[in-house]
Formats: sequence, C-alpha cells, structure tokens
Amino acid sequence: MSITPLVLDPKARDRVGEDRELRSRGPVARVDLLGLEAWAVSHPDYLKRLLTDDRVSKDPRRHYPAFEQTVERWPLWLWIAVENMFTAYGSDHRALRRLVGPAFNHRRTQAMRPVIQGITDRLLTRMLAKERAGEPVDLRADFAHRLPMQVIHHLMGMPDAWQERLAGPVGKVFDTRLSMTEQLQNGDDLTALLTDFVTHKRQHPGDDLTTDLIRARDGESRLSEKQLVDTLILVFSAGYETTVGLIVNGHHNLLTHPRQLQTVLRHPEELMGAAVQETLRRDASVAFLPLRYATEPIDLPEIGVRIEDVPIVAAYAAAGRHPNLFDHPDAFDVLRPNASAHLSFGHGAHMCLGAPLARAEAEISMTSFFRAFPDAEIAVDPDMLTPVESIISNSLDALPVTLVPEKRRAA
Ligand code: HEM
Repeated sequence: MSITPLVLDPKARDRVGEDRELRSRGPVARVDLLGLEAWAVSHPDYLKRLLTDDRVSKDPRRHYPAFEQTVERWPLWLWIAVENMFTAYGSDHRALRRLVGPAFNHRRTQAMRPVIQGITDRLLTRMLAKERAGEPVDLRADFAHRLPMQVIHHLMGMPDAWQERLAGPVGKVFDTRLSMTEQLQNGDDLTALLTDFVTHKRQHPGDDLTTDLIRARDGESRLSEKQLVDTLILVFSAGYETTVGLIVNGHHNLLTHPRQLQTVLRHPEELMGAAVQETLRRDASVAFLPLRYATEPIDLPEIGVRIEDVPIVAAYAAAGRHPNLFDHPDAFDVLRPNASAHLSFGHGAHMCLGAPLARAEAEISMTSFFRAFPDAEIAVDPDMLTPVESIISNSLDALPVTLVPEKRRAA
C-alpha cells in the first residue's frame, strides 16, 4: 500500500485514470482532498462494510477532533459543517431523516411522474424551437440543468422567480476550484437565500415539503431553525446537481453507443431503467462523498490499514468500475446483469433519499428525448467534451447536440 497520498485533481481532468490509480493503491487508500488527508474507500465490499459500521459516523461535531481547525479553513467545509441528516449520527440521524423521508416515498415519487413528464415535454419543445431558430442546443444547459431544478422547486414549493437565484449558489457547492473565501461567501449566500425563502413560506404555506418542514420546526419537533435551513440546503443541493449529472451522463452514453440505443428504443419500458442503472454504475455522478469519521479505531488487518483520526471519503465512481464486482467495468452495457449492484446512491443509513425520484427523472427524460429525436447526434467531436471541474461531480460541463440532423431533415 502506498503511503504517499494520491492528490485528487480539483479539475478532474482524468477521472477514469485517477480512479484506476486509486484502486491500484488498494481497497482503502490515502488521498489528499484539497489539502486534507483522507482514507478513500474504492472497493465495493469495504465500502459496504464501512457504510454500515456503527463505528463510522458523519457527525464531525461529535466524532472529528480536528473539526474546529478544519471548518472554515477547508474549501469543502460546507459539506461537513451543515447541520442536517447528512452530517448526523445514530438516533439524531434517524430523527432528522424521518422528517424528510415521507416526501420521497414510492407513492410521492409516483405522483411526481406526470409533473416530470410535463416539464420534460415543455423543455423538449423549447429545445427544438431553439434549433429551428438556428441556435446551438446544449443538452446540459437547455435540458439536464432545467429538469431537476424545476422538479425540486415544485417539490419544495419554490416560486419560479427564485429559481435562477438559487441555481448559481447550489452549483457552487460542488465546485472544488473555488477559493476558501469564495466558498465561505457562497455558504453565506445560500443560507441567506434559504432563510428568506423560509420567511416567504411562513407567509405563503402550501402543499409542499418546505411547508411540512416548517410545521415540524414550529410544532412539536426538535428541528432547530439552523437545522431547518440546512435541511433545505441539503435537499436543494443533493437533489439538483447530482441529477443533472446523471441525465447528462445517460444521454451521453446512449448517444455514443447507437446500437445499444436502438436496443433500448425497441423496449424502452424494460430497458431504459437498465440504461439508467448502467449509467449510475459506470459514471457515478457523485464521484467522492466527504466525510466520515471513526468513532473508535477500526482495524483492517488483512489490508494493513488502521482508520483512526484521518477521515474517510467514499469513492463511489471508482467503486462503480471495480473489476472485482463488474466485468469489463469501463464498457457501457445496458444488458449487464448486475449493474444495479452499484453503490452510486450510497449504502446503509445515509443511502440517498431521492434515488427513486432521480431515476424517474432520468428514465422519463431519456425515453422522451430519444423518442422525439431518435437521430440526435453530438454536435462536436466527442473527444472535445470536457468534464465538470469538480472532485465531487462527475459529468460533462456541456453536451452540444443536433436534435434533427441535416440528413434526416432532408428525408
Ligand atoms: C443521480 C442523482 C443522485 C445521486 C447520484 C445521489 C447520490 C447520493 C449519495 C451517494 C448519497 C449518500 C451520501 C453518503 O454517502 O452519506 C445521497 C444522500 C442523499 N440524497 Fe441523493 N443523490 C441523487 C439525487 C438525489 C435527489 C433527487 C434528492 C432529493 C430531491 C436527493 C436527496 C438526498 C438526501 C436528502 C440525502 C441524505 C440522506 C441521509 O444522509 O440520510 N438525492 N445521495
């Protein structure tokens, strides 16, 4: 095992190569995450083990002795300093998760499907109009970016006027190029905006999750004002950029594998879900997830590792391509029998609450897009596409497309 930490590239210029290097250093290996050393877990078996181990906590206030020195000195501090279910442990975590959980149950997700379909249809019409007007279409900016944003705003009862104001600060949460000062400012902006939003919703309650959370705060529950605002930060940021990434990656995979696209389009009801799962496996849109802490020393003698005061980071993208679990892991294969064994939504107590919603958004958007534009093409040399510059987000920063290529228009 290498002792020198692998320095993770804040611009993620070669994610696949970096993940390969990480896996070669062992199931659990030291990394440098923007100046902070951590144990990155890239082997699916070890990930599952540690994510379900009671000695592993996400609460830095209770279990990270260096928290005070780290907070506000590390560019990703917001990820660990928020006070919501994401950074809670044990019974505190269960109590906070119970407040938000019902909003994402199967019934509520099913009820969101017509809403998702409606937003998708409007965005597709808008994109076609743009192309017909001779303007370039970017599947990320014009489609993938807008759909999850509108869905989450619907769920949270946020009026349209607030949407673009929130998109910038939420996007910056995932931007690992920002300086410390910029990140601090962004954390303040996000908190101020969502505090204003809570005030607005107290005056204008509705049938939405924000109103439910305010009732929990103002009623019997133990939710503090900070936890309320921080829970909103979590739901808006967790539900948005991650899903943008999945939708971009899913379209990209099908656009670059036309024969598989044909197979999927013959049986979309059965196979589009499989294409989404395979995309999540191969290109986890949350590549690394900071941070976890050992509540007591954890010995892994078979690999010569003792986890003690150095925190843990889950390496979900590297795990999705682990050759011990997946054959030919770099290949995109919609018929892969075990694609859904991926851990890209996490595992254990903190497993993603919005997974069914995210999968529904991806399935509906991909089915509708390819039904409307079966001949769509990437409008630039695919090798020229560039990644989102982030250690955490794993996606493309733009995906220019031609919806109806010239040859088709002429036909
Ligand atoms: C493709 C899209 C998504 C991906 C890849 C994703 C990924 C994840 C992952 C990996 C975690 C676990 C973090 C950990 O290791 O502790 C997580 C947690 C979470 N996700 Fe998602 N997520 C997605 C979409 C969503 C959506 C749409 C929502 C809600 C609207 C959402 C809400 C949450 C929440 C609330 C948690 C915290 C759960 C807890 O700590 O108990 N996510 N997500």
